[in-house]
Amino acid sequence: MQVAKTVREVRAWTKLARADGKTIGFVPTMGYFHEGHLSLMRRAKAECDLCVVSLFVNPTQFGPSEDFQRYPRDFARDAAMAESVGVDLLFAPEVEEMYPEGYQTYVEVTEVTRRLEGAARPGHFRGVATVCTKLFNIVQADRAYFGKKDYQQLKVIQRMVKDLNIPTEIVPCETVREPDGLAMSSRNVYLKPDERQAATVLYRALCAGRDAILAGERDAKKVKVLVEQVIATEPLVKTEYVDVADAETLEPLTDLQGEVLISLAARVGVARLIDNITVTVPD
Ligand code: PAJ
Repeated sequence: MQVAKTVREVRAWTKLARADGKTIGFVPTMGYFHEGHLSLMRRAKAECDLCVVSLFVNPTQFGPSEDFQRYPRDFARDAAMAESVGVDLLFAPEVEEMYPEGYQTYVEVTEVTRRLEGAARPGHFRGVATVCTKLFNIVQADRAYFGKKDYQQLKVIQRMVKDLNIPTEIVPCETVREPDGLAMSSRNVYLKPDERQAATVLYRALCAGRDAILAGERDAKKVKVLVEQVIATEPLVKTEYVDVADAETLEPLTDLQGEVLISLAARVGVARLIDNITVTVPD
């Protein structure tokens, strides 16, 4: 596995790869890898000749009171894990390489960023869209792999790539969970043992919402209240929002039909966790 710290090195590497006729699969990340990240890398490796991973804790997508400074980082561990799944190039730039002095260009995706995480974290998706545009331009991959764990992020990136004619195909990947259902996240390291146990309520609540829909519930409000009630049984978990939306547009629904997204954000100790589930409403 090659490690690149600069855009120049990546360009030289991908130029050679393309001259060789190789396809490139790209996995953008902020590091502190877990099985969720590795599943994306394995898929990229299986579907493309070469796999490029970026590891960059992107400051522009964190709010001023968020966890940019204490976001978990362990380069040696991440490099070993990436290498173990066959990653070919690991791009790990410093902040100055991505945002040198004088930097002043940002990408804004409008409608699809207004609700959910976009509403809870002002400026977050502007930072995500900006860094992903830069990374797509730097790597020029054939395909880029994104997890459904960050469902709205996936929708934002799909919209942006379409709108800006970015010639990279976006491949959505399933959420990887711990055996007890908790969605894997780099932020799970913030959880103390009792909080880690309590956090399992989030996926149970999403499943309860899904099961209600599958059993015939068509009232979005009732599904939302049910999910909130399940979470409320766990005193260590504080719900930030529970939302029931159209899975394509992310607009809120009243009567359920088609493909539905149930999504949530919650505080567990100092950790802010998000999770979601999609359900196809039976006819
Ligand atoms: P990060 O949180 O490191 O996630 C990198 C990729 O891994 C994203 O596509 C995310 O959806 C996916 N992922 C995270 N947890 C997952 C899980 N449990 N199962 C499946 N996939 C999972 O998302 C970001 O970084 C950043 O916003 C980024 C896109 C890199 C831009 O900075």
